Amino acid sequence: MVANAEIKIEKTAKSRVSEYDVNNVPFGKCFSDHMFIAEFANGKWEKAYIQPYGDLPMSYAMSALHYGQAIFEGMKAYKSVEGNVSVFRPLENFKRLNKSAIRMAMPEVPEELFMGGLMELLKLDSAWIPTSDSGSLYIRPFLIATDEAIGVKASDTYKFIIITCPAGKYYAEPIKVLIETNYIRAVEGGVGFVKAAGNYGRSLYPTKLAQQKGYQQVIWTDGKTHSFLEESGTMNLMFVIDGKVVTPALSDTILAGITRDSVLALARHWGMEVEERKISITEILEAHAKGVLQEAFGVGTAATIAQIIGIGYNDNYYPLPAVEDRKFSNKIDETLRNIRKGKTEDVLHWMYKVN
Ligand SMILES: Cc1ncc(COP(=O)(O)O)c(C=O)c1O
Repeated sequence: MVANAEIKIEKTAKSRVSEYDVNNVPFGKCFSDHMFIAEFANGKWEKAYIQPYGDLPMSYAMSALHYGQAIFEGMKAYKSVEGNVSVFRPLENFKRLNKSAIRMAMPEVPEELFMGGLMELLKLDSAWIPTSDSGSLYIRPFLIATDEAIGVKASDTYKFIIITCPAGKYYAEPIKVLIETNYIRAVEGGVGFVKAAGNYGRSLYPTKLAQQKGYQQVIWTDGKTHSFLEESGTMNLMFVIDGKVVTPALSDTILAGITRDSVLALARHWGMEVEERKISITEILEAHAKGVLQEAFGVGTAATIAQIIGIGYNDNYYPLPAVEDRKFSNKIDETLRNIRKGKTEDVLHWMYKVN
C-alpha cells in the first residue's frame, strides 16, 4: 500500500489564483490549482499523487455512473488571523467516509492517504483559502467506482479524489423551509445515514417543487408515518423550544452531521440542557401556537448555521421570531466562527493544524 511519503506531486506550471478574488466567489464554481488522487486496484491502494486540477478521464461505461457507487464528504479549511491554516475536525469526515464506503461495498480509504493527501494539498493551495470573516476553503473528498463494465456488481477499481474550492456564505439570507410529507429521502435499512451521491439526486425533485412555492429547502419527515422531522437539504435541524435545545435523534435515516455534533458539544460545554429525540410536526406546531418555538436553524458544513425564518406545512406558513433575537444560534454561530478563525480558544480541540 502507498505510504504518505509516496505521494507523487506534480505542481502546476502557473497558479490560477490571481485570476480570482477568493474572498468573493460563488460557492462551488471555482477550483483551486491542485487535486489529490489515489487509485485502488488489485485489492489495494496502489498509487497516490497530486496533479494540477483538471478533467477526469473515464469510460462511458464507468460503473459509478450506472450503479451509483459514489460517496463524498465535505469539510472546510480556515486561515487564522495570523495566517495559520487548519481544518475543522477532518478525522470525523475521514471516519464518516469509511462508514459510507462500507455501506456501499467500496474499499475503505486508509487514514494516511486521506490525511496525508489532504495535508499536502492544503500546503500547495493555501493561497486559495479566503481570509474574509465568513470565508473558508471547501474541501470535497470523494470515492468513485471506476470499472469499465456494465453489470450490477461492486467495482474492482476505485478512485479517491480530493478537490477544493474557496467558499463564502452558502445562503445569503435566512431561509424558509417546507415540511415534506409526500416524498421520502431515506428509509430504515437504507442509505440515509451515509453520504451516497444518490441521496442527493433523489432529493432534487421534491426540493424543486418546494422552491416553486417560495421555499429554499424541504424538511424531510420519516418515511413510515411522515409525522417526525428528520433533516433538511444538507443540514441537520435544531430548535430552541421554551429555552431547551432540541434536535432529532440520529438514526439510520439521518446523516450524523459533524456540525450537529459540534453544536451539541458546545451547548453541553456551556452547561445547557440538550435533547436528542424524536420531534413530531405536531409538537412544532403546538410550540409555535404557544409562542415557545424560539429558534429554528439548520446546521451543516456548507451552510454552517442557516437561520430558518419560517416553516411551511400543508399550505400554511408559520413565521418564526426575528433572527436578531435568537440568543443560542447567534452565540453558536459566532463561537464556531471565532474558533475556526483562531480568534477564540479552541476549547474542544477541533482545529487540525496544517503548518
Ligand atoms: C444530508 C445531510 N445532512 C446533514 C449534513 C450536515 O453534516 P456536516 O455537519 O457534517 O456537514 C449534510 C452535509 O454534509 C448532509 O448532506
